[in-house]
Amino acid sequence: MPKSLRIAVIGGDGTGPEVTAEAVKVLKAVAPLEGLAPELVHYDLGGARYLRTGEILPPAVVEELRRCDAIFLGAVGHPDVKPGILEKGLLLELRFQLDLYINLRPVKLYPGVETPLRDKGPADIDFVVVRENTEDMYCGAGGFLQKGTQSEVAVQTAIYTRKGCERCIRWAFDYTRRRNNPKKTLTLVAKTNVLTFGHDLWWRAFQDVAREFPDVKTDYNHVDACCMWMVKSPEAYDVIVTTNMFGDIITDLGAILQGGLGVAAGANMNPDTKVGMFEPMGGSAPKYTGKNAINPIAAIGAMGMLLEHTGHAAAAERVLKAIQHVTGTKMKSQAAGKMGYGTREVGNLVAGAL
Ligand code: IPM
Ligand code: MN
Repeated sequence: MPKSLRIAVIGGDGTGPEVTAEAVKVLKAVAPLEGLAPELVHYDLGGARYLRTGEILPPAVVEELRRCDAIFLGAVGHPDVKPGILEKGLLLELRFQLDLYINLRPVKLYPGVETPLRDKGPADIDFVVVRENTEDMYCGAGGFLQKGTQSEVAVQTAIYTRKGCERCIRWAFDYTRRRNNPKKTLTLVAKTNVLTFGHDLWWRAFQDVAREFPDVKTDYNHVDACCMWMVKSPEAYDVIVTTNMFGDIITDLGAILQGGLGVAAGANMNPDTKVGMFEPMGGSAPKYTGKNAINPIAAIGAMGMLLEHTGHAAAAERVLKAIQHVTGTKMKSQAAGKMGYGTREVGNLVAGAL
């Protein structure tokens, strides 16, 4: 009997639907090879619906999404909608409402892909960032006093809880153990020399949880130093665990090391409920919309992550190998419009290489 896999698909804005179509194409091609029976439920969410109806994320939709095995999200962000509205109302809202406390961002350089780091190759750039995804400055805690006056005060609070950091740190240790890289090292990235309350809590939680994983080596970097090391010696990293805000910043640095936003994919997961949301990092790229020019590799990579984290490791491995074949032997560049192929053709190549 084929294994069922119910996926909610949100193409979203701009080039989101185009890259999503290629990821779905690859899913449909890998399914019969691996005995999977995916069932796709499409949701019309994003800027266009918001402009039409004023709705961003109706509560009934959230309830449906909770019952899926996974969510695939193309992109959010619409040129006619003020920045922040859709990002907060859809992406961040889903992270919070579904309590997707792990944001997993692999930084992996595929063969044939250009990195801005001279003398570094696929063997050097292969680490994973585990970013806490529900706390920190993302909570929306804060406010204004005397807004708009010369005496204005703005407060934006970073909230950290023991439960919140501990569950993320514990998952990161377990993930490092399962990844089983020869380095088997989890590096905490924070700023304990300045954030002496919140990041002290992280530090203590990290030390406590480390005792449960004697086989995993530990390290610590301040976030500013981490930015230097990521560029100078990316090969030193195996898994990084970090706070939400710092994780947001260092994962864009990571994305460019692996060839840019056309390549980088991420997962938002709740390991307890097993629901996850998988997305390419590229954004909606309005200027490339409808031109068959955007790179679908990140979206296809996100579909690979979806397969891996819903328990279909062999299918995920097959997708990864196919991507590597296509970047290594076919594509001229990972930049939109310069790939040597169109969006759909890259999707066909990956599907054909499965
Ligand atoms: C990311 C993005 C989001 C974030 C934005 C779009 C709100 O940058 O997923 O990294 O800041 O988390
Ligand atoms: Mn980001």
